Amino acid sequence: MALSDMLYWAIGIAAIQAVYCQDNFIKVECDPENQGVYSQQAVLNCKVVSIKKDFQIIKMIWCKVEADKCVNKTMLTFENGKWSAKDERFSIGALEWNEKELSVSLLVQKTQVSDQGSYRFMISTDTGYDKGNTYLRVTAPYSVPVISSVPGINIEDSMPVTLTCNASGGYPPGQIHWFDQLDSNWTKSSALRTIPTQDGRFNLSSVFTTTASSSMALYKCVVVNDKMDKQRAEYQLAIGPGKQEGTKNATAITAVFVVVGALASGILILYIYRRRSRAGARRESMFPIMGNTWFQGTARGKR
Ligand SMILES: *[C@@H]1O[C@H](CO)[C@@H](O)[C@H](O)[C@H]1NC(C)=O
Ligand SMILES: *[C@@H]1O[C@H](CO)[C@@H](O)[C@H](O)[C@H]1NC(C)=O
Ligand SMILES: *[C@@H]1O[C@H](CO)[C@@H](O)[C@H](O)[C@H]1NC(C)=O
Ligand SMILES: *[C@@H]1O[C@H](CO)[C@@H](O)[C@H](O)[C@H]1NC(C)=O
Repeated sequence: MALSDMLYWAIGIAAIQAVYCQDNFIKVECDPENQGVYSQQAVLNCKVVSIKKDFQIIKMIWCKVEADKCVNKTMLTFENGKWSAKDERFSIGALEWNEKELSVSLLVQKTQVSDQGSYRFMISTDTGYDKGNTYLRVTAPYSVPVISSVPGINIEDSMPVTLTCNASGGYPPGQIHWFDQLDSNWTKSSALRTIPTQDGRFNLSSVFTTTASSSMALYKCVVVNDKMDKQRAEYQLAIGPGKQEGTKNATAITAVFVVVGALASGILILYIYRRRSRAGARRESMFPIMGNTWFQGTARGKR
């Protein structure tokens, strides 16, 4: 008993001394990493923790770090009771005391790919100085991929067919994987082009050449950005004589197999329910459902 009591007090006193013996009464704590989505608002979370609340803030700075320095990369400055911003896309979140914490999060509007990187928050007060670093990781979702084929129509068995799957405006650079209707992986037989756009995002274009077969006429492409973001398209080769006249040079475009998480499935289910309840006697569904997450719609290029 006595020994554990002594130990308790010894540790307690050591802890209090450790805190009070620092000349710093304040501490900056930041999330190591924050996620931002292209063109949306991003939040970089930092807070000031203090054991006493009544200190005077002399200066606060939010800057972007390059080569461990903040030179010429100051985004926001707080001085003489006012914030000033270098770029109007950057602002401070609510400056609010919550218990013993002051939130000093940085808001970034219309996040760009070039905003990705390390940021630093610095504060100097009459009771001490501290700083903290945080990283902004930016992602951009790829557009729904579009598959096209050459030739587009009147394909015969054993004919070579070139399929192209395009997706645009994503970040980081992604991959395009190809599968047939039995889910055999044909990715190794395809060639991917990654085309940078002006704003730092990427367009992807994957070309896959196959031999037409009426028993294996369905192909799928999957755009893989990161684990959370997968976009799909599927394409049915138009094998046999075309039904429409005058479309010989047209490229048939069949889309779309979209999965944007559960949201899309939810909207789809809602749509089908509405459609069915409106259509009444019309029994056939507009979109065959082939699984929980896959749906198909077909659109054909104009003549
Ligand atoms: C900072 O920016 C100014 C003007 O934009 C430039 O004249 C100056 O050389 C820059 N300083 C450094 C260290 O990059
Ligand atoms: C796919 O992208 C490539 C490269 O940008 C382009 O040349 C091609 O025309 C595109 N195909 C379609 C069907 O949009
Ligand atoms: C398909 O093949 C590609 C390239 O070999 C590979 O990166 C990918 O993981 C494969 N996908 C599946 C679902 O097996
Ligand atoms: C990327 O794709 C978009 C949409 O298809 C297109 O408007 C844009 O011109 C493409 N950019 C480049 C650099 O190919």
